[in-house]
Amino acid sequence: MDNEKNTAADGVDASADSGEPRRNFMTSCVAGVIGAVVGIIPTITGLLFFLDPLIKKKNSGAAVDGGVEKDAEGRTKVANIADLSEVPERITVYNDKEDAWNMFLKQQVGAIYLSKNEGGKVSCFNVRCPHLGCSVEFRESQKDYYCPCHLSSFALDGSKQNKIPPRSLDDLGFVVDDDGDIWVKFQNYKATEATRIPVG
Ligand code: FES
Repeated sequence: MDNEKNTAADGVDASADSGEPRRNFMTSCVAGVIGAVVGIIPTITGLLFFLDPLIKKKNSGAAVDGGVEKDAEGRTKVANIADLSEVPERITVYNDKEDAWNMFLKQQVGAIYLSKNEGGKVSCFNVRCPHLGCSVEFRESQKDYYCPCHLSSFALDGSKQNKIPPRSLDDLGFVVDDDGDIWVKFQNYKATEATRIPVG
């Protein structure tokens, strides 16, 4: 009988021993999950708090602190109509750029020619020649835009004057607000093509 009791007792003890590691494992798992959740939530909250002003400004179109002033359509302010004349003014255009991790403020993205004729009509052209992308320059004596790379020219309205460029100068969309400020949607287009293909 003693042997049977011992055997039964040993059986209970053995069963209890085999359940202990499992309970420890489950406890560790639960503790691990709780620890991860407790750790992740403040991290995510902190990240959102840190990024929130940037996200809000980007979504609203407002300028990021120290960045380029833009409207909700992504146009940048380049000049005031009161400062323009019939002589085209070359203006460098800046924009904020970003990659997955960083934002680079006020980066030069290109240049435009802005002018205003006698009737007050504003013209806005990308300075890049549509042939191979050289910068055109305004010639006061000829009253035209001249590309020194392959000796091409464009009239004041941007139309090409010879057969080398595949198309006329690229005019850019803009709006003039109530204060006379001009907001340009800057865009580069692929060179060598007869039709305008946006790039960048
Ligand atoms: S790049 Fe302007 S004509 Fe060739």
